[in-house]
Amino acid sequence: MKKFFLAASILSADFARLGEDTKNVIDSGSDLIHFDVMDNHYVPNLTMGPMILQSLRNYNITAPIDVHLMVKPVDNLIPQFAKAGATFITFHPEATDHIERTLTLIKEHGCKAGLAFNPTTPLNFLDYILEKLDLILLMSVNPGFGNQSFLRSTLKKLREVKKIIDTNFSDILLEVDGGIKLENIAEIALSGANVFVIGTGLFQHANYNLIIKKIRKELRDVYSKRIH
Ligand code: DX5
Ligand code: ZN
Repeated sequence: MKKFFLAASILSADFARLGEDTKNVIDSGSDLIHFDVMDNHYVPNLTMGPMILQSLRNYNITAPIDVHLMVKPVDNLIPQFAKAGATFITFHPEATDHIERTLTLIKEHGCKAGLAFNPTTPLNFLDYILEKLDLILLMSVNPGFGNQSFLRSTLKKLREVKKIIDTNFSDILLEVDGGIKLENIAEIALSGANVFVIGTGLFQHANYNLIIKKIRKELRDVYSKRIH
């Protein structure tokens, strides 16, 4: 099994040719498609709904799709995204009144469940629900837009979450989202992340294959250094 996973954030893709661009990043070596859902309420931007996800599945995108819900409320969208073909559904704890209920709803619809933490959201939301999670997402920018700078305070938080995961002998995926580039991915991996969301850092390059190769090389070098 791979130790590190790349999740291409199609927020930075060309929306006029979304199917083709999505297929290209998968064919170029991306493991997952990261699908950012924004509602102009929980975050000040508006993006894609379940119909677009369904269109990608109809276009023969078979890779896992990692849905990042930046919406409030959360629950009524879960059945729709599950039906459209989501693999992971991740939400922000502040956006739902009953975190456990929302996690259970995701599982009942056959998807993997994730919890997303904004840069200043405290980690105590993890208390009592760790065993229900498949993924923890740490935002390294404030949610709402692509192409922002990586907040370095995330590195400390990452180490804290990695410690929680390890002490509980858990295999929860630890994902980081925002401002990840070829230049900083090694440091982020060394701090404990194993799923890397990359939007601008991937789509701004003309040759996806080449940039993904370079990123994988950085990650291979980390793998030889990191103590597991
Ligand atoms: C921001 C989104 C991110 C975004 C990351 O709210 O959750 O997934 O696409 O984009 P980059 O990699 O450009 O920071
Ligand atoms: Zn995201």
